[in-house]
Amino acid sequence: MIETKAYAKLNLTLDVLGKRPDGYHDLRMVMQTVDLSDAITLEFGGEGVRAASNLGFLPTGEKNLAAAAALRFAEATGKETGGLLIHMEKSIPVCAGLGGGSSDAAAVLRALNGYFGAGLSPRELALMGERVGSDVPYCVLGGTALAEGRGEVLTPLPTLPTCDVVLCKPKFSISTPELFARLDGVRLRHRPDTEGVLAALSAGDLGGVGRRLFNVFEEVLPVRIRDEIVAIKGVLVEQGALGACMSGTGPTVYGLFSDGEAARRAYEVLKGQYRDVFLTGTRESLIPS
Ligand code: C5P
Repeated sequence: MIETKAYAKLNLTLDVLGKRPDGYHDLRMVMQTVDLSDAITLEFGGEGVRAASNLGFLPTGEKNLAAAAALRFAEATGKETGGLLIHMEKSIPVCAGLGGGSSDAAAVLRALNGYFGAGLSPRELALMGERVGSDVPYCVLGGTALAEGRGEVLTPLPTLPTCDVVLCKPKFSISTPELFARLDGVRLRHRPDTEGVLAALSAGDLGGVGRRLFNVFEEVLPVRIRDEIVAIKGVLVEQGALGACMSGTGPTVYGLFSDGEAARRAYEVLKGQYRDVFLTGTRESLIPS
């Protein structure tokens, strides 16, 4: 049996550069791993690759990204996983813009690589993950990184200075393909200052990053949803966040705090209004240096 953890990700910036002939979009995103995690257990035995979780509604077969990753690993390495049960104790909200499913898949790839002594480099594992989902390669590496292309072209960045993070997921969920389609139909008025974020990271300037958090999907949200996202951002900033933003295709909104007490207050205020609120921190790269 193997036990491991899968960490959530945030988009410090998210820019969509254009639609590609393969139907995907070219992206430019600064990504960050946070401490909020799912607990993953891999148990060998039984028949086939199966996924199970504390959430009854998640797929149990190949449609589950964690199971898909295990199958991909076996296919690519020729290692016989035999029967495998992947159990996920989910704490990362599902369909939330936090990369939970991708992170579970990445954790399975890392764990199987270690267990079978397959000796694949993090880059090779990331490449394997690309077939499972666009965010999986980043989730294999973790830390602070620039993700480009479909999300699989990764450049490690200077680590974001340590800070507290408050996450709040409103109740509604947003379809990722639908949000991409909405973007295709508009000319964006504002884009993230990605270069400014890269410079702030190089300077170790947390405030400079906080001021530049930006996600182009916020501009194309349906009005009712956008109003709620704006309201949550308002609470975070009012309570002292250095900046606040929606992550991925949402709907989770987060704020970065240099002041732990302010983060705790923001957490308490939002917890009074929403069920899925978390007070967490940032994490460095997941690959040993
Ligand atoms: O790769 P993944 O399965 O996670 O992507 C889910 C959906 O998000 C895709 O079917 C596509 O609609 C959209 N997507 C995109 N461009 C990307 C990543 C995702 O259009 N770079």
